[in-house]
Amino acid sequence: MSPFLLTRTLPEDATDAALRADVLHGLGSDPKTLPPKWFYDAHGSELFEKITELPEYYPTRAEREILLARAGEIARATGARTLVELGSGSSEKTRHLLDALTGLRTYVPVDVSESALTQAGEALAAERPGLDVHALIADFTGGLAMPDTPGPRLVAFLGGTIGNLLPAERAAFLTSVRALLSPGDALLLGTDLVKDEGELVAAYDDAAGVTAAFDKNVLSVVNRELGADFDPGAFAHVALWNPEHEWIEMRLRSLAAQTVKIPALGLAVDFAEGEELRTEVSAKFREEGVRGELAAAGLDLTHWWTDEKGRFALSLSTAG
Ligand code: SAH
Ligand code: AVI
Repeated sequence: MSPFLLTRTLPEDATDAALRADVLHGLGSDPKTLPPKWFYDAHGSELFEKITELPEYYPTRAEREILLARAGEIARATGARTLVELGSGSSEKTRHLLDALTGLRTYVPVDVSESALTQAGEALAAERPGLDVHALIADFTGGLAMPDTPGPRLVAFLGGTIGNLLPAERAAFLTSVRALLSPGDALLLGTDLVKDEGELVAAYDDAAGVTAAFDKNVLSVVNRELGADFDPGAFAHVALWNPEHEWIEMRLRSLAAQTVKIPALGLAVDFAEGEELRTEVSAKFREEGVRGELAAAGLDLTHWWTDEKGRFALSLSTAG
């Protein structure tokens, strides 16, 4: 069995302070918002894995198709000895990369979800003798301090999670990723692509209601962590396409006028009937947009691969 190391880069009270600040700011804004990273407690991470298996949710299958077809090419192009994966979750699709990267010595999965990191990291270390797994509990939008591991380094950011950042956050994030790369290192980025509105909305409003449960889970997180009294049943899940920004928005619509108490913040938050709280954006991309955002952060796009149906793209870029 290979070594499995789990490092928390932020103390638990810093995570608690971050949640308080995000809830105070987001529920005090007009319109109300909450950042999507708070979906992912242990239950939220499990719900996300269920989403990846839904018939309507194509991104995971499409990205897996590309990885299966291109993992060998990625391995040859990068020669990676360290794989850093941001927002690694269950690391399921990553297995295709791990199989192909024959010179790989160290895998560094980075996630805010301790449960997902522990499950995935322990399993991979047990299965893959010779691979050091050094998991980091960290916010990838904060300053990322990487363990000192052998290069070349491949940083992977899969699943289209970059689309869950707002444009200014994406620019800052890509700049911080660029700063992690030395000559010879590369970024492997998964981006969901603009497509038919009906197909997009269905992927975020599935018939079985799993995405609705995932959306409402953020209310349960705030209840548990801050003693709030959100009634998830008093909100409806909404998914809509915003054509101006080319992103899906997930929202929770208040079914009645109500006041929610958040004792840890000494706060009472009023919701009007029909008022919506935005819980996530999931931006969809075009090749030129991705190339431009990477270039603005000093990254050169060298490869662009899509699945057969052109729904999702993986790109490889290097520090320019
Ligand atoms: N990469 C996996 C999981 C995607 S789900 C896949 O493609 O299927 C998004 C993952 O990013 C979750 O595991 C979530 O916990 C993590 N995540 C979301 N926001 C984060 C942040 N700010 N910092 C670190 N991890 C984050
Ligand atoms: C993690 N991220 C890329 C997912 C997405 O598609 O934006 C999160 C998600 N939200 C609803 N369904 C899945």
